[in-house]
Amino acid sequence: MKHFLTLADLTSEQMHAILDLAVRIKTVWKAGEDTPYLKGKVLGMIFQKPSLRTRVSFDVAMLQLGGNALYLSPDEIQLGKRESVADVARVISRYVNVVMARVFAHADVVALAKYATVPVINGLSDYSHPCQGMADFLTILEHKGSFKGKKLAYLGDGNNVATSLLYGATLLGMDFTIASPKGYELHPAIWEIGRRLAGESGSKIEATTDPLAAVRDADVIYTDTWTSMGQEAEAEQRRKIFPPYRVDEAKLALAKPDVIVMHCLPAHRGEEITDAVADGPHSAIFDQAENRLHAQKAILVWVLDAN
Ligand code: CP
Ligand code: NVA
Repeated sequence: MKHFLTLADLTSEQMHAILDLAVRIKTVWKAGEDTPYLKGKVLGMIFQKPSLRTRVSFDVAMLQLGGNALYLSPDEIQLGKRESVADVARVISRYVNVVMARVFAHADVVALAKYATVPVINGLSDYSHPCQGMADFLTILEHKGSFKGKKLAYLGDGNNVATSLLYGATLLGMDFTIASPKGYELHPAIWEIGRRLAGESGSKIEATTDPLAAVRDADVIYTDTWTSMGQEAEAEQRRKIFPPYRVDEAKLALAKPDVIVMHCLPAHRGEEITDAVADGPHSAIFDQAENRLHAQKAILVWVLDAN
């Protein structure tokens, strides 16, 4: 049984294989042809949190792969409240071929995978956002052509998105620098995994509190919200701490001339990113959003061994 819970569960070969599959599926899609790999298959989508990209791109992905998706809202399933996560996993496995879940606690998606008899895909947890990561590295590949020796600089909170970027970069041999305020760094256990993967791939990885040092000579600058879903009570405090990490034109000027800027969205314009950058010539933000569709088709086909 293949699950897709965090990029760190993949080998470098598997990461490359899923990316290759995404490129192939996207090429066929662009030519206006079909890729009905999942004819008759059904995806169950369990959401504990809101979503635009994840919800719509998985739904459309299943449709374009010849299958169907069921959206299950936070109120319907009430994961772990109306019934146990284990029972939800056992029951939903009897109806659908694959499950995608967006949860608060990563332990819940791990428990779903433990008790499900079908593959489980993590559609974002408080620990990682691997579907986003896969779309991000597809976008980087399209814009930069390769990963080795390229520098990805992440500015801001050491959150789920930053974790997936660290894992993806170190699987692919890309260099990764993160600048976060003190107290908001990636957890040491996450950094430890990144260090191990970097040791295998040759990635250079670095953590700093200095956002200007981080973006110097970067090929890619990435940022995300300062306050993730579930942390709303801290928003005001975070708004005081994070402004030096805002991605603006002054920071872009320190990076490579052909730097691309990325953001998983939703963006809080004027906070972690300025309008001028988000809408400017270096922005790859909407390519990234589109690539959720193509990357997730590849993930779905990969977990179901359907190609
Ligand atoms: N980037 C992302 O996961 O967006 P949604 O929260 O809208 O799904
Ligand atoms: N870090 C953000 C990503 C949203 C797609 C969050 O978890 O809310």
